[in-house]
Amino acid sequence: MPRIYIETYGCQMNVSDSELMLGVLARDGYVRTDDPADADVMLVNTCAVRDHAEQRVLGRMGELKRHKRPGDVLGVVGCMAQRLGPTLLQRVPHVDLVIGPDGYRDLPELIARARGGERAAEVEFKSWEHYEDVPPVRGDRFSAFVTVQRGCDYRCTFCIVPMTRGPERSRKLADVVSEVIGLAESGTTEVTLLGQTVNSYHDGEHDFADLLRAVGGVRGIRRLRFTSPYPTDFTPRVLDAMAATPAVCEHVHLPVQSGSSRVLKRMLRRYDRARFLEVVAALRQAVPAMALSTDIIVGFPGETEDEFQETLSLVAEVGFDDAFTFKYSVREGTPAVRLKDHVAEEVQAERLERLIALVRSGAKRKNIGLVGTTHEVLVEGRAKRGSLLQARTRTNKIALVEGPDDWIGTYRRVRFTGTTGSTFTSWPADQASREVVAP
Ligand code: 5AD
Repeated sequence: MPRIYIETYGCQMNVSDSELMLGVLARDGYVRTDDPADADVMLVNTCAVRDHAEQRVLGRMGELKRHKRPGDVLGVVGCMAQRLGPTLLQRVPHVDLVIGPDGYRDLPELIARARGGERAAEVEFKSWEHYEDVPPVRGDRFSAFVTVQRGCDYRCTFCIVPMTRGPERSRKLADVVSEVIGLAESGTTEVTLLGQTVNSYHDGEHDFADLLRAVGGVRGIRRLRFTSPYPTDFTPRVLDAMAATPAVCEHVHLPVQSGSSRVLKRMLRRYDRARFLEVVAALRQAVPAMALSTDIIVGFPGETEDEFQETLSLVAEVGFDDAFTFKYSVREGTPAVRLKDHVAEEVQAERLERLIALVRSGAKRKNIGLVGTTHEVLVEGRAKRGSLLQARTRTNKIALVEGPDDWIGTYRRVRFTGTTGSTFTSWPADQASREVVAP
């Protein structure tokens, strides 16, 4: 049987797409390997959102070349493949295949052609493509990503995704629900719904509120998450559905990008600072104890020190639990390329440093306040270092806990005993006598 190795970069949608590709190839008799040296086909599923992500992939392609034996196939798939298309074949001579996010159905055929010595790029958008008939080969039994929407119709001026993932389309609610029923029957208890602007989901008949209620109502689904939502798509209907669906977790990743209304306007975001703060308040009102994380870009073209200060003050005002912070990266083909006053790299770097320090200190203060509280956690597996188990709260906090392997995939109650500032140490809540006093 041929062996397939897939390496995944970027967002959760890419993780989900890699599971989909494994599904496409499993139908063709492929088995998965975690060792590139052992593989007949190596695929790198890529991200194009920032230049840094692409440079890393190019470096990695050079390394993977070493594992390529005669007859083996090396492919670049995903957003960078879509963005660069056939030029990638010219640029990287040992790459045989270039396939964008709508082309995965053709993987077996393109691999066969590559085996025959043909180098091919498949980067056509297919606005109907949902891979509805392809059962993904998932990496995790207890927690599953379920893609409900592909592509993006928003036009944020910094963002390459509309160019790499094509037009927005939503799967039928009934198809999503039947997939989730199947997952629940095989032991999945946590589902994360995925889409570029997931709460703008609409299948022509049902909106995201309907979807939350329907998926949250599937027997056996104890935790329901979704990512990434767009701030102004939290309609009153969606907020009501979140409040009324017990499975919906108390955590939302809410990308703000900037705290300055002027910058937001240049980014073509559909809200200003005040509107964003309203959405935050509405979420907290609908779901008490809501944890919030965000994405922020610093050094967007034209961003002044005063405008950056507004981002800092927004971060302080909202009190995010976590934030992913980025220096603006010029993406060829996006409207922001044409904006004036690009911010110098040193200025971006210095702003990023100040922002990270603020985010960290805010998160730390918040997390210290949680030491001593008890939480339901889903035990996800062994922590990367040491012998402890890694578990996650509904609010998306990570806690380490001592316990046996058979806790993996189960829900436990733990009491937080300490924090590094971002993650927690904990004890099973029923073993109060072993508790350590918090710092
Ligand atoms: N430069 C820097 N960050 C970007 N992002 C998207 N495009 C760019 C860019 N050109 C960030 C946004 C988005 C996250 C996934 O990546 O913050 O929410």
